[in-house]
Amino acid sequence: MIILWLLFLIVVLWIIQFRYKRRRIYELASTFPSASGPIPLLGVAHRFIGNTESIMSSLRKISYECITQGGTIKGWFGPMLYFMVADPVNTETVLKSCLEKDDILRFVANVLGYGIILAPVPIWKVRRKVMMPALTPKIVDSFFHIFVTQANELAENLEPFCGTGQFGVWPFINRYALQSICETALGVKIKSQNDPNVPFLTALNKVLKLVSERIFQIWLQPDWLYKLFRSKYTEHEKCRRIIMDFLDEIILNKRKDIDANKTFEIKNDGNILENYKNQAFLDLLIYASGGDKGYNDVELREEVLILIIAGADTSAASISNTLLLMGKYPNIQEKVHEELLSVFENSDRPLVKEDLPKLQYLERVIKESLRLFPPGPVIVRKTVRETALPSGHILPAGSGVIISIFGAHRDPKYWGPDVECFDPDRFLPERYNLPYPCCYIPFSNGPRNCVGYQYAMMSMKGALSTILRRYKVIGTPEKGPIPHIKMKYDLTMKAVDDYQIELLQRK
Ligand code: HEM
Repeated sequence: MIILWLLFLIVVLWIIQFRYKRRRIYELASTFPSASGPIPLLGVAHRFIGNTESIMSSLRKISYECITQGGTIKGWFGPMLYFMVADPVNTETVLKSCLEKDDILRFVANVLGYGIILAPVPIWKVRRKVMMPALTPKIVDSFFHIFVTQANELAENLEPFCGTGQFGVWPFINRYALQSICETALGVKIKSQNDPNVPFLTALNKVLKLVSERIFQIWLQPDWLYKLFRSKYTEHEKCRRIIMDFLDEIILNKRKDIDANKTFEIKNDGNILENYKNQAFLDLLIYASGGDKGYNDVELREEVLILIIAGADTSAASISNTLLLMGKYPNIQEKVHEELLSVFENSDRPLVKEDLPKLQYLERVIKESLRLFPPGPVIVRKTVRETALPSGHILPAGSGVIISIFGAHRDPKYWGPDVECFDPDRFLPERYNLPYPCCYIPFSNGPRNCVGYQYAMMSMKGALSTILRRYKVIGTPEKGPIPHIKMKYDLTMKAVDDYQIELLQRK
């Protein structure tokens, strides 16, 4: 009995000193409104029980709560304190001053390594400096022919599905995006468009799903507990191995190739563009990091894998969302088609680089699709020190900050009462008049923003113009201007039903 009392006393004392040490956190947290439904010990973690669809549904609901409660709210995740920010003014401060990624992303890093997106700030600074020159508009332009070839192959692969009723278009778009990025990033053709069972692609998709569940479900987080979920753990490890082996082999071959052919000399004259046009990102990263003395094989693997993940899934989700929206809104699709007719003058000539800037309406459609359905609906950062927000609140040191891009894009205070409606013309220069840069941030903002904007736009416009020239998309019509799509969250936000559409051949 005495032992039990002693144990009880120890626990109580431990809780008191734990709370005492964190008193400043509780004091600052108490000044923020809270996400609804917290329960003792778990906080709001129980709202993330379930599959990737219910995780997205919770993120969505909490984003709306955040907007209605002034744009910044708190939520406990067990002992961990998180804030959600959707207000554009506070968001700008967070994106500029909280550059560290939150520890919760370590489960992603277990698989991907600490490439640029996940790297701690000192490593990130070096990685960003090396990556930036590899993604300048001129280098991205030099990949144009790859997008055109891949987009044509995608359109060919869709042909057998014309007039056959609804089918899920996601696997085709996913493979298009992955094959394009693999060719530009690694310089290899993985031929995934013709073979849905390419192990690298299958492993990548499976592991992303597993990791996103693990981020939000705290009982899956400790490694020893995760290992008890035998099937998940085994699948996770198997996929990780397939991805690593695939990339290691490519890097090994690339190094051999460089040694054998002396593909390029390492010159330190900074003239990457002239010397390295038409090289894959992998070559550029080897060169820009200092050749033999630069990135080692693990660092190279981390960087190319991050490029593949960051570039493929996001662009594929955006292309697929846009196709779905075209099916829901035939009038808007017809306007896109009219623009395509005027640019291509009813010919079936291939797309050329000069066509892209002429596709202005298509660009507005893509931007509006990215607003309502941002492929990366949230960004997760952490506060290393106390961070004062323009709203007057202070974020305590050591807390996580979830920037809700989804919420920022759906705030009627800035976007107006029709915020939920699909209206591409809100991006007309004369109408686009937002007061703060962080009202619209599909590619994030600040020093850690997306480096792939040019690349993504080229890939999305290339694929969409090629498909929409050849096919008419038929979808389930919407009753009104507000599009409803059931979404799931597996690191990117995508439709649960694999994007069911029907295609008809255009005359
Ligand atoms: C529609 C397509 C895309 C969207 C919506 C998108 C969105 C984003 C967002 C929101 C971030 C910030 C992530 C964070 O802070 O946690 C980001 C970062 C990044 N994106 Fe993209 N992205 C897209 C396409 C691409 C492409 C095609 C590439 C590469 C070819 C790319 C490469 C990167 C990289 C390397 C970062 C990390 C930057 C850093 O941490 O310094 N993205 N992207």
